[in-house]
Amino acid sequence: MALAGLDNNDLKLIIFGGKGGVGKTSCAIATALALADQFNTLLISTDPAHSVSDCLGQQIGFKVTKVDGTLKLWAIEVVADEALSGFKAEHQTELKKLLETSTNLDKDDIDDLLTLSIPGIDEVMSFKTIIDFIEEGGYEKYVVDTAPTGHALRLIASSKLLDEWIKVAARMRWKYRYMITSFSGSYQQDEVDTLLLSLKKTVKRIETILKDTTQCEFIPVCIPEAMVIMETGRLLTDLGKSEIIAQQIIVNNVMTSGGCDYCQRRKAGQLPYLKAIRKLFGKLNKIEVPMFAEEIKGLEALHKLKSFLFSEEQLANSIT
Ligand SMILES: Nc1ncnc2c1ncn2[C@@H]1O[C@H](COP(=O)(O)OP(=O)(O)OP(=O)(O)O)[C@@H](O)[C@H]1O
Ligand SMILES: [Mg+2]
Repeated sequence: MALAGLDNNDLKLIIFGGKGGVGKTSCAIATALALADQFNTLLISTDPAHSVSDCLGQQIGFKVTKVDGTLKLWAIEVVADEALSGFKAEHQTELKKLLETSTNLDKDDIDDLLTLSIPGIDEVMSFKTIIDFIEEGGYEKYVVDTAPTGHALRLIASSKLLDEWIKVAARMRWKYRYMITSFSGSYQQDEVDTLLLSLKKTVKRIETILKDTTQCEFIPVCIPEAMVIMETGRLLTDLGKSEIIAQQIIVNNVMTSGGCDYCQRRKAGQLPYLKAIRKLFGKLNKIEVPMFAEEIKGLEALHKLKSFLFSEEQLANSIT
């Protein structure tokens, strides 16, 4: 089977996830290449390892860069630290005022506090960057490559975390607002309230797009191995808890050649796992990709991968 429905005009955001080393980056880039035949496409890597540059054989980095040899494909590797520094620089005044007006901290303490790293901030900043791109609307498709399982889940849960922070900040503000109102009789919304409201809108936007299957699709990638199948099952369950239901799954590294003794044994060894995938993920559209002799590096290899992802032909030992 082939990856289906990604050319639907309403579908904006396509997120690839799965266990480490199963082929997420390769599949995300190959899919972005396919979409870029038709649509202006932005490939966004949220993986701190930034393997998109390595896989493409072109330096990308934290700025939108045209992918060489393509007409409609751009890529960016989000550096969460830099996204956070940018956010702090842009909203320094509001963040300081929030702490000045609702804590007893002095200026030095506030400066120190603002330099501390907060758990989960990387994913919040990464997802905010993605949502900001979608809001700007410069592209028709946004393909996201994530780091292994836990990262994808944290990325998806990041809106909840941001929402918690906003609630804490709003509670801190409530006391301040109460005092101002008591002393002066009225309260004017200030720049801190404006920032909190705008962040609240970001949370809403993230939640709305993630849960909307017409706008967003999560594509898990797995390989026929016991541990990977178990982790993929947990990933799908956890996604389901956030109301994100995958519709198709890529089964990568399928052994097709039974030529030599080694290949025959590997192919036979995969069979029970291919059956397990069929049983466990029976409802999903399965796209099988063979194990290539060489690693997937550079445009030529990625185009070859693309042809398998989007081909209706089935592999000889197909599980579907
Ligand atoms: N079908 C395949 N045949 C041969 N090699 C493959 C195949 N798919 C991926 N690879 C190779 O496997 C390695 C891991 O692939 P990739 O980087 O796409 O995985 P990943 O899931 O993104 O890994 P990570 O979790 O580290 O981000 C790479 O060297 C890639 O070239
Ligand atoms: Mg990767």
